[in-house]
Amino acid sequence: MFAVHLMAFYFTKLKEDQIKKVDRFLYHMRLSDETLLDIMARFQAEMQKGLGKDTNPTASVKMLPTFVRAIPDGSENGEFLSLDLGGSKFRVLKVQVSEEGKRNVQMESQFYPTPNEIIRGNGTELFEYVADCLADFMKTKELMQKKLPLGLTFSFPCKQTKLEEGILLSWTKKFKARGVQGTDVVSSLTNAMKRHQDLDVDILALVNDTVGTMMTCAYDDPYCEVGVIIGTGTNACYMEDMSNIDLVEGDEGRMCVNTEWGAFGDDGALEDIRTEFDRELDLGSLNPGKQLFEKMISGLYLGELVRLILLKMAKAGLLFGGEKSSALHIKGKIETRHVAAMERYKEGLANTREILTDLGLEPSDADCIAVQHVSTIVSFRSANLCAAALAAILTRLRENKKLVRLRTTVGVDGTLYKIHPQYPKRLHKVVRKLVPNCDVRFLLSESGSTKGAAMVTAVASRLQAQRKQIDKVLALFRLTQEQLVGIRNKMRVEFEYGLKKDTHPLATVKMLPTYVCGMPDGTEKGKFLALDLGGTNFRVLLVKIRSGRRSVRMYNKIFAIPLEIMQGTGEELFDHIVQCIADFLDYMGLKGAQLPLGFTFSFPCRQASIDKGTLIEWTKGFKATDCEGEDVVDMLREAIKRRNEFDLDIVAVVNDTVGTMMTCGYEDSNCEVGLIAGTGSNMCYMEEMRNIELVEGDEGKMCINTEWGGFGDNGCLDDIHTQYDKEVDEGSLNPGKQRYEKMTSGMYLGEIVRQILIDLTKQGLLFRGQISERLRTRGIFETKFLSQIESDRLALLQVRRILQQLGLDSTCEDSIVVKEVCGAVSRRAAQLYGAGLAAIVEKRREDQGLEHMRITVGVDGTLYKLHPHFSRILRETVKELAPQCDVMFMLSEDGSGKGAALITAVAKRLQQAQRDH
Ligand code: BG6
Ligand code: BG6
Ligand code: GLC
Ligand code: GLC
Repeated sequence: MFAVHLMAFYFTKLKEDQIKKVDRFLYHMRLSDETLLDIMARFQAEMQKGLGKDTNPTASVKMLPTFVRAIPDGSENGEFLSLDLGGSKFRVLKVQVSEEGKRNVQMESQFYPTPNEIIRGNGTELFEYVADCLADFMKTKELMQKKLPLGLTFSFPCKQTKLEEGILLSWTKKFKARGVQGTDVVSSLTNAMKRHQDLDVDILALVNDTVGTMMTCAYDDPYCEVGVIIGTGTNACYMEDMSNIDLVEGDEGRMCVNTEWGAFGDDGALEDIRTEFDRELDLGSLNPGKQLFEKMISGLYLGELVRLILLKMAKAGLLFGGEKSSALHIKGKIETRHVAAMERYKEGLANTREILTDLGLEPSDADCIAVQHVSTIVSFRSANLCAAALAAILTRLRENKKLVRLRTTVGVDGTLYKIHPQYPKRLHKVVRKLVPNCDVRFLLSESGSTKGAAMVTAVASRLQAQRKQIDKVLALFRLTQEQLVGIRNKMRVEFEYGLKKDTHPLATVKMLPTYVCGMPDGTEKGKFLALDLGGTNFRVLLVKIRSGRRSVRMYNKIFAIPLEIMQGTGEELFDHIVQCIADFLDYMGLKGAQLPLGFTFSFPCRQASIDKGTLIEWTKGFKATDCEGEDVVDMLREAIKRRNEFDLDIVAVVNDTVGTMMTCGYEDSNCEVGLIAGTGSNMCYMEEMRNIELVEGDEGKMCINTEWGGFGDNGCLDDIHTQYDKEVDEGSLNPGKQRYEKMTSGMYLGEIVRQILIDLTKQGLLFRGQISERLRTRGIFETKFLSQIESDRLALLQVRRILQQLGLDSTCEDSIVVKEVCGAVSRRAAQLYGAGLAAIVEKRREDQGLEHMRITVGVDGTLYKLHPHFSRILRETVKELAPQCDVMFMLSEDGSGKGAALITAVAKRLQQAQRDH
């Protein structure tokens, strides 16, 4: 009895002594709670640094966006291939994710070796090898005939700008193949696969193993939002708020960030806790100076740390009676599996003895106890460090969510975590101590990271299919250079038709003479009234022109024209106009003043003189009865008479294009074209009288209002007319008319967009397949919204807000698609404008027999003015389609009212001159 006690006492004493000895020796490796809290805080700061745009380039913890935006929701399905490269084992898999909502995943896999000569040889050969293994797998599994999407788990730091791309930042762990760093792994593998002609595989996603692990676990537990690997290497990922990820556009929702925490400390941030053993280990590694945190934690290094410590202790005479075995000198002789075995609860000591004996040592009891304790300290430090970094992530998550307590799940994988008997327990305990306000569940990923990678691939593959459908729709709006040249040429033909007496009656581009024969010359003067009807705003203006100095002062007031008046009777419309004039005169204190008036009337009018204009037909949003075929000047005069309060001298009726050309011509006499890209679309230009067969005389020039909005009404644009254009046309006030206008101008672009959105929604590609009442409402997308949505300065969230204002409840993805649709539609519009304009400048150049021509185009209209890209694309197209013309665009700052007043001034002078004769 006594002897037993004595033995026990002896052993306890022995143990205590050994432990004390080792504790003293490895004092530096034992981290206090305070130190861990300090490391946690440092890691929090590192994460912040990695996420910031300005700080990221110098951050050692790279915080890489992964483009994985959501955890699985159970709707994933299909058959996928998966590769898992970078952990301790290389696997090829087939993953079948079940349909019918039952969460069921079946996997078949095959391991392949990764010999050092492959993983540290030439990069091309590495990828060829991987492709060969894939081909072999597919052959064995008889998958060769199938076209399957592939998800690649690639467990190294990669920079991604999309899911199906990964630029390798640096090799870590055991890999060091040449020529891969800085290149895209996905394209390298794709290229390597091309060698196998019978292989038809599309790599849809590249995921880090942490991400795969998180997704694997999240498939079973939706609370899972962190993935941790404690294996050959160590790393973690988590779901970060998009608003905190500076490197990716958009503020909405979350994205998984691969922290690459293994590199924590590479900038010296952990020097105070690194020991001489860490430094020695680092020097002997494949990547000295790199992955310093990983080297204190992960499986590839733990055994080696233990070996270095044992060697040092033996040298110092603290172990093995000062004896050293030659095996202890060999790098890699002690592996993580040895460390794990030594720490087994019951067999640990016996295992230790066996391991040491295998190394050629003759350990005493005391040695075994000491060595076991060395292992414990090394692996405990590893768990502690992991816990500190993980605690930082959990705190970040809790703070992002503004919660007092966070309930969350961490998905974990990696051999160290899985085979080490004490590791999980220790890690969990320390994490809970460091973040007492988090309820953390640790979930071991039983099936590796490939199941998760397959989920990501499933989502990617669904998105890819959707993408194809969307692209198909948008492709209808893409015009080739050849098509644009064709359109330019057709427009040119239409111009000629409209100008010729024989063909004019049937011409769809009407080429209306305006009786405006010259540019202002600066001698104009006087006070004029002007009306500006037909654009977005109806205005009444007072324009004071002073001669000589080319200075014009304007006063104007905007009036609303209610829809019921625009589409009521002609009398009501003109009475309303006169009412507005009366209000304006009142407002300006001009009651009773009999001023000459210029009437900008932005609709097609057949003119017999400057002050006569018969409305041919309404366009855009107007449809008042009893006006078509009537002289609008007469109608205005009669309305003034009906009111019987004042008299006005209506001197000129002017199209807005003409007014715009004049406004700009006042500043630049080279301005011989007027262009409107606003509610409607139209152009006017100065034509040689001899070309205008409808008007007598061959001398000089006259402005022609082309009314090009009608281009295509004879079917000549049918080849580019889409089903959406047809729908817009059918829903308009003037079906079959103004086809070109309906493809180009502000009033219709939004409608085209709306029609496309309806179709995409019907196809289930937008708004969760739900067509809202709002989306059914005509006219919700005004030009200004299009312009806002397409603005480059706008973050996605703002686009979403605009859509929400419009009553469209969209997700982030929806907003991206809507923006693209707007872009395709407005781009086509700008190109079509460009083709039309190229036709006119080319005509003018040829008519004048010039090799090169310089010309200024005066432009107005909300589309041109507000849209962020329209004017640029227009300019580019003109340049391409009329390369011999140097076209300057001049924005009309003052609207066409000023031009109308100038025309009135000129007409008034001519009237006066005629009277004087
Ligand atoms: C596996 C995953 O289970 O764990 C791999 O499928 C991952 O993707 C690996 O890289 C990490 O552990 P280890 O120990 O193999 O590096
Ligand atoms: C204004 C002109 O500036 O632009 C109007 O004064 C013209 O005459 C209008 O009709 C065209 O643009 P929108 O976008 O208002 O139709
Ligand atoms: C290394 C890699 C990292 C990976 C980890 C675990 O740290 O750089 O990408 O996640 O090992 O395998
Ligand atoms: C419509 C009108 C036209 C006008 C244009 C721009 O096309 O028919 O006269 O110039 O809109 O407002």
